[in-house]
Amino acid sequence: MGDVLAVAATGGIRTRDDVPPLFRPPAPPRHFVGRDAELRCIRAGVTVLTGAAGVGKTALALQWLRERGSSPQLYVDLAVHRIGRVLRAFGMNVDPADECAVFRSLVMRRQFTLLLDNASSAGQVTPLLPASGTVLVTSREKLDLGHVVEVGPLTDDGRLGPLLDLSYVELPERQARLYRLCAWQPGAFGVPVAAEIAGEPACDVEDALDDLVEKSLLTEVGDDAFGFHDLVRAHARTKR
Ligand SMILES: Nc1ncnc2c1ncn2[C@@H]1O[C@H](COP(=O)(O)OP(=O)(O)OP(=O)(O)O)[C@@H](O)[C@H]1O
Ligand SMILES: [Mg+2]
Repeated sequence: MGDVLAVAATGGIRTRDDVPPLFRPPAPPRHFVGRDAELRCIRAGVTVLTGAAGVGKTALALQWLRERGSSPQLYVDLAVHRIGRVLRAFGMNVDPADECAVFRSLVMRRQFTLLLDNASSAGQVTPLLPASGTVLVTSREKLDLGHVVEVGPLTDDGRLGPLLDLSYVELPERQARLYRLCAWQPGAFGVPVAAEIAGEPACDVEDALDDLVEKSLLTEVGDDAFGFHDLVRAHARTKR
């Protein structure tokens, strides 16, 4: 595979030394709690973290990378970025037919610990797997790719509430009010619904919702849709 990378490189294309910011793992949630058993289950080789939408697969993977993963680390959200885009960020313009091979070669040469987030099928992941090293895959499907860790609903062991309180007390009033009000909305909601509930202009509400997402108090669950993790929702509903 090194040959493939060499071919790409002889086209006058250089591989950048640093991991492009878009493909560095984002920080795990500030108030990450629990998952001690799951964190211990992740090991070298391929581990698939599987579970329902919003249960906490990505958060778990990011926390593991932060606590126990060796560097350097490469993060690819397969729902958002094609592999050709990743390679271009490293300065490689590759024939589509060679992309997977060049990607594997890149991962091997740089010894990346790899997080492939939001995989939809085993067929999407298999061509990307390096011959050795540590790869975390998250998927709502139970992909048959190796070691599987089932990620179930978080149970509140009493640690989350105080951590959420810390984030909550720092919120500006508009964000805090939205946090309290939107928690009574069942399921996912968009900006227009949140604006209606709050009785405020959509543009202000949109900024405030983005702020709540940044603080891990709210989750973006799709295009312009937001939702609460069950435990966070329960916390928000206790606020007046
Ligand atoms: N262990 C945890 N401690 C605190 N917050 C958590 C934890 N796990 C998840 N969350 C929060 O719950 C929300 C959903 O988590 P996450 O995005 O990891 O879910 P997911 O299983 O990856 O969902 P999807 O299937 O949509 O990708 C996020 O706001 C995240 O910050
Ligand atoms: Mg996820």
